[in-house]
This record gives sequence, C-alpha cells and structure tokens, in this order.
Amino acid sequence: MAAATGNVSEEGKAEIDFGDPGAALFGNFINYYSFNPPENRLSLIPASLLQDLGYSSAADGAPFLLLDVGCNSGDLSIALYRHLLGLDEGSCEPRGGGALGGRKPLHLLGCDLDETLIQRAQEGNPFPETVTFLPLDITDRVAREEVLGSYLARYGRPSFDLCACLAVTMWVHLNHGDQGLLELLSSLAALCHHLLLEAQPWRCYRAAARRLRRAGRTDFEHFKQLRVRGVPGIRGHLESRCGMELVHSFGHTAWDRSLLLFQRRSPEEERSSKKVKN
Ligand SMILES: C[S@@+](CC[C@H](N)C(=O)[O-])C[C@H]1O[C@@H](n2cnc3c(N)ncnc32)[C@H](O)[C@@H]1O
Repeated sequence: MAAATGNVSEEGKAEIDFGDPGAALFGNFINYYSFNPPENRLSLIPASLLQDLGYSSAADGAPFLLLDVGCNSGDLSIALYRHLLGLDEGSCEPRGGGALGGRKPLHLLGCDLDETLIQRAQEGNPFPETVTFLPLDITDRVAREEVLGSYLARYGRPSFDLCACLAVTMWVHLNHGDQGLLELLSSLAALCHHLLLEAQPWRCYRAAARRLRRAGRTDFEHFKQLRVRGVPGIRGHLESRCGMELVHSFGHTAWDRSLLLFQRRSPEEERSSKKVKN
C-alpha cells in the first residue's frame, strides 16, 4: 500500500488530498511527524517507565520486548526507544546508565500495514540490531500470528512486555467496525503484559468522517454503525473482557488525548475480579 499524502493540522481534522487514491484512509499519513512530533507524547512518558514497571531488576539478561503497533515511518518508535534507554539524539551511549541501568537490553518491533512507511522506517533505522520494522496489518489474524509469533519465538517468549498502540484505534475502528476494534484490543491484551494506549476520542471520528465526505468520498464503511464510543468503551472492554486494568494515566497530549497504561491482571487478581462481578 502506498503512503498517503496529506497536509494535516490534527489527525481527524486532516486537510487530506483525497484526489490521491492512496489517501490516508488508515491514518497512514506520510508526513505525520511534521504535524505531530514525537515529543508531543514522549514528554508525558517518564524516561524511567520500564524501571518503574520493575523490568530493570530482572537478572536473567533477557531483553525487554516492546511492540509498537501502527508505527508509521518509525520516528516515534525510535524516539521512544531512545527515551526509554536514556540515549541522546544521535548518540548510542546512555545518559547516566539509561532507564534500564544498562543491564537489560531493549528490543523493539514496529509494524504498520503501509509498506512504504515501513520501508522508510527500515531505511532510517539507527539501531538495526535491536529495532526491527515489519509490514503487518494487525487486524489480519493469520499474518499477525505469523509475524509476531516468529518474532517472539526468536526470543523463546510467549508475549511482549509492553505494547504501544498510539493513535491507531480510530483507524481500525472506522475501517473494521466495532467487532474489528474489540478484536484488536483483545489480541493486543493477549500479546503483552502492559499496554500503552492513546485512543482517539469520538470528536476525531466525526472530523475524519466529515473530511472524507467533503472530499467527495463515501463514508467510512462502518462509521454510522459504531456503538463503541471512544475511550470509555475501549477501557470497558479491556477491563471487563481482556483481563487488563488501567494502572496509570500519563495526562493529556497537545491534542487533548489521554495516554493510558493498562496492565494484565495476575491470575489471582483475575479470579477475585470475577468473584466481585458474579
Ligand atoms: C495516525 S498514525 C499513528 C502513528 C504512530 N503510532 C504514532 O502515534 O506516532 C496511525 C498509523 O496506524 C497505521 N495503521 C492503521 N491501521 C492499521 C492496521 N490495521 N495494522 C497496522 N497498522 C495500521 C497507519 O498506517 C498509520 O501509520
């Protein structure tokens, strides 16, 4: 799939050139980071995040595995990688030991359905030994199991430590409906221990649909049928159906979206939460 061109002030309020047949129907803006630089989100995420989650203390030397779903051209993935390791721009040496104290390596897999964007991410990757970019439509169950399964198998691991899913849920929701969104959330919850989520609020959906109509295109296939509305619906599904719980909110981004951290409940917590519900 070709990356979309677009001049965008806010995702969902995009001044998109829909004359281009490859326009950003999936949020695959080619210049995303020129209007939403990585710092907008990174400034909310503590550099000590992995340490705070207790990952630096593992003595086994096994790497921390981070999955970035819908990574676009990889700018935020690389900036997040540097941020969590305490690496300055252009440097490979950690500042003050880095977030993992230099003891535990961090390996990141970024995936996106747009092959052109992934090619750009691969070409610009300053850490090819520890950061990998692969094309993947995360809603395609077979491809997902194949791509993510073989990555995890390399490390002999059943799941990722952390999955980042930033500014992706709306695009999956608009293109695959409620069922597609809920399946995405369930599959991510099954794939990781912690989930860092930035979900677009409902106003962004209305704006994205309005732009599409104004450009003379037909509505997103599922827009009018969507019943799961924004962040409360997403949180509800993760907590009631996926065994996850919200453990931290990092505040609001420059676009007034919340950055939320979910954690998989332990089997004991899961049992007692079911008892409370019954
Ligand atoms: C608005 S951009 C956000 C990029 C990045 N996550 C960030 O927050 O900086 C949304 C990205 O999600 C990708 N995307 C949308 N649907 C996807 C899917 N089903 N599978 C994989 N990537 C998807 C798009 O191609 C696009 O690059």
